[in-house]
Amino acid sequence: MPSLSEPLRLPCGQVLPNRLAKAAMTEGLGDPFNRATERHVKLYRRWAAGGLGLMLTGNIQIDRRHLERPGNVAIEGKQTPEQMTALKAWTSAAKAGGAQVWAQVSHAGRQTPKAVNPTPSAPSAVKLALPGGQFGEPRALTGDEIQDIVNRFARTSSVAREAGFSGVQIHSAHGYLLSEFLSPRVNLRTDEWGGSLENRARLLLETIKAVRAATGSDFAISVKLNSADFQKGGFTNEECLKVVDWLNGAGIDLLEISGGNYEQPKMAGLAGIEAASEEKVRESTRAREAYFIDYAAAISKVARMPLMVTGGFRTRAGMEEALTSGATHVIGIGRPLCGDPLAGKRLLNGETQALPSYEKTLRIGPGWLGPNSPLSLFKMINGWGAQGWYCLQLIRMGDGLDPDLRMSVLQAFQRYASGEAAAAKAMSRAA
Ligand SMILES: Cc1cc2nc3c(=O)[nH]c(=O)nc-3n(C[C@H](O)[C@H](O)[C@H](O)COP(=O)(O)O)c2cc1C
Repeated sequence: MPSLSEPLRLPCGQVLPNRLAKAAMTEGLGDPFNRATERHVKLYRRWAAGGLGLMLTGNIQIDRRHLERPGNVAIEGKQTPEQMTALKAWTSAAKAGGAQVWAQVSHAGRQTPKAVNPTPSAPSAVKLALPGGQFGEPRALTGDEIQDIVNRFARTSSVAREAGFSGVQIHSAHGYLLSEFLSPRVNLRTDEWGGSLENRARLLLETIKAVRAATGSDFAISVKLNSADFQKGGFTNEECLKVVDWLNGAGIDLLEISGGNYEQPKMAGLAGIEAASEEKVRESTRAREAYFIDYAAAISKVARMPLMVTGGFRTRAGMEEALTSGATHVIGIGRPLCGDPLAGKRLLNGETQALPSYEKTLRIGPGWLGPNSPLSLFKMINGWGAQGWYCLQLIRMGDGLDPDLRMSVLQAFQRYASGEAAAAKAMSRAA
């Protein structure tokens, strides 16, 4: 019966000192040239004291033209000595507490904001169906550009290794580029990269192969994958199970299960622009805290690599139940670590039985006007305001401050929006 504090040996030989992992969370602390900064060092120094077994960075982009927000770090190839020094300072601060530290490597695809790129690349020219005009008209990648993306993932991962990360996580979830390729709703291609599931999964599998070749057998490679997109015509749970079967042969060390995308933000437990499909197990899942645990249980029957499940875990009881059921080997945690960077340690040493859960109170108006409100203005302010709240706490820690738990959602909504606009302007001035 594995407990939270039991180490886990991965296929590459690395050992996670315990089963608690900090899930990837975009930091927004890159400079206008998308380089790592002293603010990353300050933030990860806080988390490093938090007793976690694994820390995944927020997404590090393989292409500066395809960021998920202006403050992302991008690693496009060989680094200058200054860039490498900044990356090494970041990894050594993060590793100071004994955690394995992996870089999440990503390409934002059509979810690149317009302020970064008005015509982002995607499998096909299918625009995000979101109100607000924040995202541009995507254009379909050519075959050569797809090959370039595979090479970029490999180059970025090789630099990550040189910088001191002990692994990478290939982001193939949440509606970013690799997840778009998996979705028949976004991938309408008729060449070898689209159509059948085998073709739609080709980019992910080719990427893993290239990353392994560039980094070596003792380097950890993880994949973050949607259990489903929860959208009509999207990547289904049945397809996910088939992809997991192919991943068994791809030599990865940890598969992280999540779900959803910007149109259907299930990763945060929120409702999207349309009714979610594939909610067969919803009733039983709702009874527990983790959003994707029933999907993970089905995946664990197919998967031969260790699993991590992220989304909603808050109590020791819920985490231990998930570990002992065999549905997962590692517990991913996100939002609690934005308000309390030491929450994992408190749980591991028995000081507390539950992580802080901010999402219940982070809203303007009464409960029914929360992030799942039928009124779109409230839904938007609550959804983006809460996301902004978490992001602003990371920025505060990057500035050497404590999280400000009294910040309101409305304040967060305004401050986050103006901060992102200023970062986009600084980035375009730097270009
Ligand atoms: C501020 C913030 C930033 C995030 N950034 C990323 C990211 O860069 N990459 C990613 O895969 N997921 C990202 N996520 C999603 C988390 O990894 C996680 O899947 C989600 O927060 C659900 O876990 P939780 O319920 O423990 O918060 C982010 C979440 C938050 C709150």
